Amino acid sequence: MAKKNTPIPGNAEQRAAEARTQVEAYLNEQEQLGLLRFITCGSVDDGKSTLIGRMLWEARMIYDDQVASLKNDSKKHGTQGEEIDFALLVDGLAAEREQGITIDVAYRFFATDKRKFIVADTPGHEQYTRNMVTGASTADVAILLIDARYGVQVQTRRHAYLVSLMGIRHVALAINKMDLVGFDQNIYQKIEAEFRVFAETLGFESITPIPLSALKGDNMLSRSARTPWYSGPTLMGYLETVDVSRPTKHGLVFPIQWVNRPNLDYRGFTGTIAEGSVSVGETIRVTGTGQTAEVARIVTFDGDLDVARAGQAVTLTLNREIDASRGDVFSHAQNPLDTTDQFEATLVWMNEEPGLSGRTYDLRLATQWAPASITSIDYRVNVNTLAHESHKQLGLNDICVCKLSTNKPLAFDTFANSASMGAFILVDRFTHATVAAGTIRHTMRRAHNIHRHALTITRAERERQNGHKGKVFWFTGYSGSGKSTLANAFETAIHAEGYRTYVLDGDNVRHGLNKDLGFTDADRVENIRRVAEVAKLMVDAGLVVITAFISPFREERDFARSLFEAGQFVEVFVDTPLEVCEARDPKGLYKKARSGLIPNMTGINSDYEPPLEAEITLNTEQASLEESVGQLKSALTRE
Ligand code: ADX
Repeated sequence: MAKKNTPIPGNAEQRAAEARTQVEAYLNEQEQLGLLRFITCGSVDDGKSTLIGRMLWEARMIYDDQVASLKNDSKKHGTQGEEIDFALLVDGLAAEREQGITIDVAYRFFATDKRKFIVADTPGHEQYTRNMVTGASTADVAILLIDARYGVQVQTRRHAYLVSLMGIRHVALAINKMDLVGFDQNIYQKIEAEFRVFAETLGFESITPIPLSALKGDNMLSRSARTPWYSGPTLMGYLETVDVSRPTKHGLVFPIQWVNRPNLDYRGFTGTIAEGSVSVGETIRVTGTGQTAEVARIVTFDGDLDVARAGQAVTLTLNREIDASRGDVFSHAQNPLDTTDQFEATLVWMNEEPGLSGRTYDLRLATQWAPASITSIDYRVNVNTLAHESHKQLGLNDICVCKLSTNKPLAFDTFANSASMGAFILVDRFTHATVAAGTIRHTMRRAHNIHRHALTITRAERERQNGHKGKVFWFTGYSGSGKSTLANAFETAIHAEGYRTYVLDGDNVRHGLNKDLGFTDADRVENIRRVAEVAKLMVDAGLVVITAFISPFREERDFARSLFEAGQFVEVFVDTPLEVCEARDPKGLYKKARSGLIPNMTGINSDYEPPLEAEITLNTEQASLEESVGQLKSALTRE
């Protein structure tokens, strides 16, 4: 870009803004020339391996010894007679990479004199949806391969949907194997037209169809004489020149990775600029607190900068002390980011273990972390037809539109507006596996418009009047372990001593508040979530609450615990072995379950995860009821 020499009209601020835009445009141009990330979608049958092999070949990124062995292999195993079989090259590389990688995406690097390229190559079948989503998440362009003989297939639609879902805006429609249809222009045009109609709803910025024969090289690097009717770019030409710059709606998005304090007068905020740019002297805002300060220095390993832009890792120092820590996000003061704690998102489920509504996961958005739960699963998108289907839980490769809530507000934007602030992952709190990738569709007004009402009477006042503190005793154990019996005996004992109490019992709550819930994993999660919230209100009312639910999953018991202050939540493990519960069988349920009449009875055909660190463990075989009640009472009076 040529720099303008004419003076820019307007006041100093406008001029500064104009100058910034120019610098940004220039730097963006450089960046674009630098590197293009793209993904190839299609199957081997469409000629994908041949296409990638040919690209690597044309770019001369294959080492000589590889070429020699490729020529050999082509003769031995190839399908192309004396010619080189490019598919063998790629398939060989893929086999090397596939070992031991769970989410297998093969990345390949090559360069021409115009650009550097990173190709994400993922398998095309539906069971590899998560791989494709992973590969697409960092790509700017997708090459969708179509076999000219078969045209737009179900899998073409699926791939197009997935790449649009992950924010890819530019698609090359590689209409391949044109040699097998006699380079027929009508066939090419029909495929293009059909794809454009389908893709209308997907919001691509550009769709570039290219008639190809990856095998013979037509329109790969040089224009083919066999498609005189085609005037568009070759595939390489397209990749070398496609403009993928994305205007940011935000002047600056700077998620703080860590706070540096090498000495007393130097406090630096380190991170990578996600969007926009920042200059010395500009006023920035901390999204969470709204505090503002001026940028004093932009420090990098190679010295200070006046301006830094998206993609650069820098440390910012400010002209005054502000409260900001890891996870906070800086924006320009005049262009703040919104926050949300309830939003609608599209989730791609990437884990074998199903995703359940009500369960808590760790959510990471930019550098922010927060516990989050799926509050509802609105529908599943059928990736082949794009139809909406009702759905109860998230299975591997499912794509669902869900509502989520976080336990604290996060800086965010919709994914349509911002790739950096609109995409997140969910992480399992125990295994630390990434279980889902998500993109934010919109925030729920509710998060903005519901504010807690400050009440005059607080829990402390109620506790004072009651003469004791509010607490919850959270019993867990198998059906028939003795939870209800113990809860009842404990309440009777302390009621007599003047405690204000309430027992929440599974069988009772399931007749009212939770009568819409059954015993699937998802329903149990929701059962416990509601009970935990009710217990919290009751503890806030100053009561001693005793809950008696199997509560089979650690994650939900931990969620319940997370609602309370330290010391308020007492987990009580009623440690009666399954055999004993089954022998007691007070309601005849185990017998029914064994004969196949109950499909998901805890302990028989549904999991129970014993607590790892319960405050109290009761053994109903060895201890008498009185002894157990004594143990509970001493925990009650302990501060
Ligand atoms: S929880 O798993 O969601 O915590 P909850 O404690 O509310 O369960 O309910 C358990 C009670 O429901 C048991 O004591 C038993 O009486 C009854 N019940 C009926 N079906 C089942 C089942 N499939 N598994 C466990 N309990 C069941």
